[in-house]
Amino acid sequence: MEETNKNVLGDCFTSAMALTESGVPHVPTRYILPPSQRPVLSPSIGTGSINLPVIDLSFLHDPLLRPSVIHEIEMACKEFGFFQVTNHGISSSVMRDALDAATRFFDLPSHEKMLLVSDDVHTPVRYGTSINHATDSVHYWRDFIKHYSHPLSKWINLWPSNPSCYKQKVRKYSEATHVLHKQLIEAISESLGLEKSYLQEEIEEGSQVMAVNCYPACPQPGIALGMPPHSDFSSLTILLQSSQGLQIKDKNNNWICVPYIEGALIVQLGDQVEVMSNGIYRSVVHRVTVNKDVNRLSFASLHSLPMNKKISPAPQLVNEDKPAAYGDFSFNDFLEYISRNDLTKQRFIDTVKKNKF
Ligand code: OGA
Ligand code: NI
Repeated sequence: MEETNKNVLGDCFTSAMALTESGVPHVPTRYILPPSQRPVLSPSIGTGSINLPVIDLSFLHDPLLRPSVIHEIEMACKEFGFFQVTNHGISSSVMRDALDAATRFFDLPSHEKMLLVSDDVHTPVRYGTSINHATDSVHYWRDFIKHYSHPLSKWINLWPSNPSCYKQKVRKYSEATHVLHKQLIEAISESLGLEKSYLQEEIEEGSQVMAVNCYPACPQPGIALGMPPHSDFSSLTILLQSSQGLQIKDKNNNWICVPYIEGALIVQLGDQVEVMSNGIYRSVVHRVTVNKDVNRLSFASLHSLPMNKKISPAPQLVNEDKPAAYGDFSFNDFLEYISRNDLTKQRFIDTVKKNKF
């Protein structure tokens, strides 16, 4: 029996967690993907022989060794729009605490979580399932809570008060990722030949959305997904995961499994960096697979310019040979787009491109 709850809009709402807890032997029909979209889960096929980049950030602060780290970042951004980082300055206890707060939140009884349910993408703190349970044609095996995290003092009072440790633990992690993001954007600007401070002001006043995702153990991981293929609207997304599950698409359109590396964080380029770099770097297309055995958790910290600030190709990267390949867009434009369109049908970034094929 599915446990359903009516939300404020009167829609039926069943979380993936409730399905897992009820011990369903099969996923309900709405989760079944068309065969062409199903994941290949065999690790030998998924990972091939490709080594995804892992970059040690400890030398970023050493003036002599910084250029070699910047070079590694440039290579990773050009090849994948993706890399993992180690020695990133966020302690393992801060990461562990954040994951613990998330575990406790998703373990709450449904009626507690339903206090925060909303399918309006403009709601500053919202609990939900799938991408948008009210409109998704195929559902995804994922529950989430999303909230703004920067500036903290503006938003933290709206965060979940249950579990009681949530605010304190997630606060520490949010603040730490904000600092790391700033360092990464400086490095990425430098790797493009721009001033280190190119986006500094915008980032300082920028927005940060924390998407806390829960992918419960799924009885049929071969025919469902936790998240469909997409790229993030952000400048960068910093991702903390509790176990393996993320896949990225490489230049040859192959899906590559991202390995779980203890203590590492994942960095994904988002649409804002693609536009800013005038297409020298591309946002990474990624999706999430699910598994039979464990609940997987992740914190996707989506950093971006302020809500209404438009990003456009950096003037230094536009010239006669390489005219601006993108129009400009703001985070708000993206929210408007997703409240009206299905992201699995057309990527947002394709609507920003000047030459639409
Ligand atoms: C996201 C996302 C990946 C993951 O929240 O945008 O891509 O592994 N998450 O949860
Ligand atoms: Ni994403």
